Amino acid sequence: MKKIFFLLLFSLTLVSCKENKPKLLKYGAYENKIDALISKMTLEEKIGQTNLRGVSSRAKILPEDLKESVKNGNVGAFLNIMNLDYVDELQRLAIEESPNGIPLIFGRDVIHGFKTLFPIPLGLAATWDAQIVEKSSEIAAFEASAAGIRWTFAPMLDIARDSRWGRIAESPGEDTYLATILGEAYIKGFQGDDLSNPHRIAASAKHYIAYGAAIGGRDYNTVNLSEPLLRNVYLPPFKSAIDAGAATVMSSFNEINGIPATGNEFLLKDVLRGELQFDGFVVSDWDSVIEMIEHGFARDEKHAGELAAKAGLDMEMTSEAYENHLKELIKENKVTIEELNEFVRNILRIKFRLGLFENPYRNKKHTGNFYAEKHLKEAKKAAIESTVLLKNKNSILPISTKAKVAIIGPLANAPHEQLGTWAFDGEKEHTNTPLLAYKNANANFKFAKGLTHSRDISKKGFKKAIEIAKKSDVILFFGGEEAILSGEAHSRANIDLPGAQEELINELAKTGKPIVLVIMAGRPITITNIIEKTDAVLMAWHPGTMGGEALYEVLHGIKSPEGRLPVSWPKTAGQLPFFYNHKNTGRPADSTSFIPMEKIPIAAWQSSLGNDSHYLDAGFTPHFPFGFGLTYTSFNYSDMSISKNTIHFNEDLEVKVSIKNTGEKDGKELVQLYVQDLVGSITRPVKELKRFKHVFLKSGETKEISFKISSKDLEFVNHKIIKAAEEGTFNLWVGPNAAQGLKTSFILQK
Ligand code: BGC
Repeated sequence: MKKIFFLLLFSLTLVSCKENKPKLLKYGAYENKIDALISKMTLEEKIGQTNLRGVSSRAKILPEDLKESVKNGNVGAFLNIMNLDYVDELQRLAIEESPNGIPLIFGRDVIHGFKTLFPIPLGLAATWDAQIVEKSSEIAAFEASAAGIRWTFAPMLDIARDSRWGRIAESPGEDTYLATILGEAYIKGFQGDDLSNPHRIAASAKHYIAYGAAIGGRDYNTVNLSEPLLRNVYLPPFKSAIDAGAATVMSSFNEINGIPATGNEFLLKDVLRGELQFDGFVVSDWDSVIEMIEHGFARDEKHAGELAAKAGLDMEMTSEAYENHLKELIKENKVTIEELNEFVRNILRIKFRLGLFENPYRNKKHTGNFYAEKHLKEAKKAAIESTVLLKNKNSILPISTKAKVAIIGPLANAPHEQLGTWAFDGEKEHTNTPLLAYKNANANFKFAKGLTHSRDISKKGFKKAIEIAKKSDVILFFGGEEAILSGEAHSRANIDLPGAQEELINELAKTGKPIVLVIMAGRPITITNIIEKTDAVLMAWHPGTMGGEALYEVLHGIKSPEGRLPVSWPKTAGQLPFFYNHKNTGRPADSTSFIPMEKIPIAAWQSSLGNDSHYLDAGFTPHFPFGFGLTYTSFNYSDMSISKNTIHFNEDLEVKVSIKNTGEKDGKELVQLYVQDLVGSITRPVKELKRFKHVFLKSGETKEISFKISSKDLEFVNHKIIKAAEEGTFNLWVGPNAAQGLKTSFILQK
């Protein structure tokens, strides 16, 4: 009975979520060549293609036995080979000395730039700008390909709803729609239109899937989620990357509902290949095949190899289950030769698309133009557009360039730290820090760190910092987190400013001078304790190589802060996970009935007191909502209209709204459109982002902005795994963030 139910559910899954897909995978021009090559390969060579061998990202020496393996055709790809002579030599061995001369692919984590570093991906997401994301990955590809790298382990498309999770820094934030737009842009930027262009690199959409849903934001942790949630929230960014041509996909470390992603046949075969029609190759994450033993899913290395192979994993990163056991597994008929051939086919297809058969070697004339003027210019632009202004009391910002400035804080001159996580190849000697930018601008400033690094608890430096603060017109406090406090395996339970930063800000506040807090960090930092001591707060993320100049220009109004939050900013870590597109619940939080902790009468009778789904001590709103960001001007939204009150399926609804720049400065607004499906066959989120548009307005200028949405935008996957829009009433908002906006409603009818 159970079996029948699953079979039914499974076939329904395939039928209903397929969405007019062609029956065959989108195999391209190389299939005959691939088959011809496979027919000549020995079993050992085939297994060799599935091996991704690597050295640590810091390794300088190439182990001798790796060369031997290449000669024998036992390696398909490498990661982290950064010595150019080794790259050349290994490729030569593969082409000239291995049995069938199959080229190697060299991979690397080129995540937000190679040498020229852009803001961390969460910062790039704060630009809400696909062009910037595309450009940054194009430049990353151009620089990295000069080092022989033709494959990056990016973009990370894991939706992240918990700022404790260290890898939120690498994520596109909490919203699925924004992540789908940016996911496509990353792929276009890395890969271009033609992967055989030697200045482009293959991308890897990672980590498939739901890695960001780890319990409590603890890295690598367990993920339990329903299939509708998986499909509605976590899958669309991967679909978008695959539709844009992502060459590879990386399976994630985590388990999903008890099955590790790396051994998950349903997700790798049925969804990724069957539904999303992915025709590149799937690589495991670092050792994630053998980690299935620790997960308690595989008995031993051989079993782990078998489970990964049966699930459809094509290439194994670093661990050696395939290398050590595939031959035996095939002999025992536990894995078939057809299955192995399919892995090899998928891998060779990407090698052909990369043009590696015609052009295997690194072009020695291609220098990558590391840190070229135009690369730095784009990095600076990205850093400017990623800064999010969170507070600006009495318009203290922008500051006059003539003001006497006290530059204080552990991140004011921290060239390594401002590059952020996954910055292996960017050299700190090239970092433009805020201090350097002030020096170069010949600005009127004094500098005292106050704290040597973000975790410093010593107060030794306070005195000097307070002295210079007293003599200044304004204090610029560059605080936040060092790069190592976010990223992989660097989750935090408390996300306040670490070390004695709050204490120093409190001391500085006693001088009575205005304080501008500039935060450089890999995640939102809870600032509830000290925000009242500040006059302005600017979130700069880890802004990359050009962060200093970018911040100088923003702080002094040469440029405006243009970023908007790609994640809700919590008041306290206790609110996490927090995301704007939550469900309503049966007792939604309500500001009119909410009784905060301090107002509860002593010895109160046990009742809900009117309290609903929220915290007594932290309420139910974030500190700053998703989509939020101030500018140096102000905007007014008015005259919203919709083309029809009722639309039919596949008919467009046009939404118009007037935006006026009511401030004295020119500025750019990010206009956001959200909808709410009031009643569904499964409950629906209170709001979902569906469109956004940047609009530049001169002071006093008004523009009419229009958006179009259709029933396609209202589709979701329900409990029967049917993807469809459902008839009914929808609320619609157009506004500056997820918590504000003009509201209307419309009906969707058959
Ligand atoms: C990370 C991946 C990364 C890989 C290779 C793993 O630990 O999870 O994101 O691409 O290492 O460096």
